[in-house]
Amino acid sequence: MTEGALTAAYLASSILFILALGGLSNQETARRGNVYGIIGMAIALVATIAGAHVASYGVVAVCMLIGAVIGITVAARVQMTAMPELVAILHSFVGMAAVLVGFASYLDPSVNFEGVEKTIHEVEIYLGVLIGAVTFTGSVIAFGKLSGRITSKPLALPARHWLNLGLGLACIVLGVQFVGAQGHAAGAVPLIIMTLIAFVFGAHMVMAIGGADMPVVISMLNSYSGWAAAATGFMLSNDLLIVTGALVGSSGAILSYIMCRAMNRKFLAVIAGGFGTGGGTVVSAGEVDQGEVVSISAEETAELLRGAKSVVIVPGYGMAVAQAQHVISEITKKLRERGVNVRFAIHPVAGRMPGHMNVLLAEAKVPYDIVLEMDEVNHDLPHTDLVLVIGANDIVNPDALEDPNSPIAGMPVLEVWKAATVVVMKRSMATGYAGVQNPLFFKENTRMLFGDAKASVDAISASV
Ligand code: TAP
Repeated sequence: MTEGALTAAYLASSILFILALGGLSNQETARRGNVYGIIGMAIALVATIAGAHVASYGVVAVCMLIGAVIGITVAARVQMTAMPELVAILHSFVGMAAVLVGFASYLDPSVNFEGVEKTIHEVEIYLGVLIGAVTFTGSVIAFGKLSGRITSKPLALPARHWLNLGLGLACIVLGVQFVGAQGHAAGAVPLIIMTLIAFVFGAHMVMAIGGADMPVVISMLNSYSGWAAAATGFMLSNDLLIVTGALVGSSGAILSYIMCRAMNRKFLAVIAGGFGTGGGTVVSAGEVDQGEVVSISAEETAELLRGAKSVVIVPGYGMAVAQAQHVISEITKKLRERGVNVRFAIHPVAGRMPGHMNVLLAEAKVPYDIVLEMDEVNHDLPHTDLVLVIGANDIVNPDALEDPNSPIAGMPVLEVWKAATVVVMKRSMATGYAGVQNPLFFKENTRMLFGDAKASVDAISASV
């Protein structure tokens, strides 16, 4: 393939990626967005393989085969609830790729830049390896936290901010040494030391972040992986990788901003770690709050549904675990046919990844126009007859507004307790992801429907 054809193919891919992002920003056009993305990626792959840079097709074919088999197997096996950790581990691959490409590019004997070009190339390598290494270990820790292999409680080392500052300053000093070094051997030492420091920094940064702030970390690592890819693009002089990396990096940064706003957090405070953990009550799962809870049966819940004129359904992580969305969609249909005003209320951090609940409800064919954002529905909750909370916990916790010492203090929540009656479906009195107790369960107008959410909604559906 000629250079001109390659550039044209890369341009087409870039446009398709932009269209893909545009499509993915809306539920109704998301499917089309995905198709654009797939076509864009296919063109990019074919053009790159057909380009002049490929030295051995055999190696490329073997690597692609191994990668494709692993990718297809993992994607086919992954449960919807495990998607966030899969995304986290995939981000770590992008980070590691940037580190390896950086070292390979530095050691490549065929690259012989002089003067300013040499300096620019070395700065690209240094930044690429730095961002890649932070992304790698940060994503591995995020994977551990999301999959429950590592505790979601923040690690608050004494003087952690000073530690971060020290590591940051060391990276700057090493960067100056690296760019000024004479010869590869002299430059490799600061590069290796910085890589090790960046590994520690990435791990420490994510370890210090508490459970409830993980949404910001996920979108932030998403953004970092984009910048790592863009840095790789600069090292390899690959325009498409630069454009794609910048798209991922900037859209991830915008998502981080949206997440911070949704959680009423300052971005820097989250990144600095340990935010809002100054003495709040973090309890271990299963620990029970003092007070009386009132249980309700599925039949009684169906009775309440039959008598209600307006119903708001709040899905949370438990709905994803139980896969209860299809039955809920059927119940919604039945109620709407009877003239009940049913709406869904989506908290921005419900579940374990941005848009988690929207994806599940779209899969269950819930009409988009009754799926509302938190801000659209909160003011209406005091006029709602019945709220059904399905496997949600932190996002409906009144302590976020009422207890300034709570680890989730300041996070806007769905104020479901203002409705006439609230039915909470969950299996036990266990806490949610943030590990905090929820006073909602003890309120006078709250009824607890204990059991797996799928079994509960099946029983409600039979009675409705
Ligand atoms: P959580 O606070 O995690 O609560 C989920 C509840 O579902 C649990 O209390 C659990 O109680 C219940 N549950 C689990 N399996 C169930 C099943 N099979 N049937 C019925 N109930 C079940 O979820 P949420 O309210 O959606 O809040 C999300 C939390 O995750 C927030 O703290 C958020 O910061 C964090 N987070 C979000 C993201 C993103 S980007 N959305 C990413 C990382 C972390 P039982 O065990 O008693 O059943």
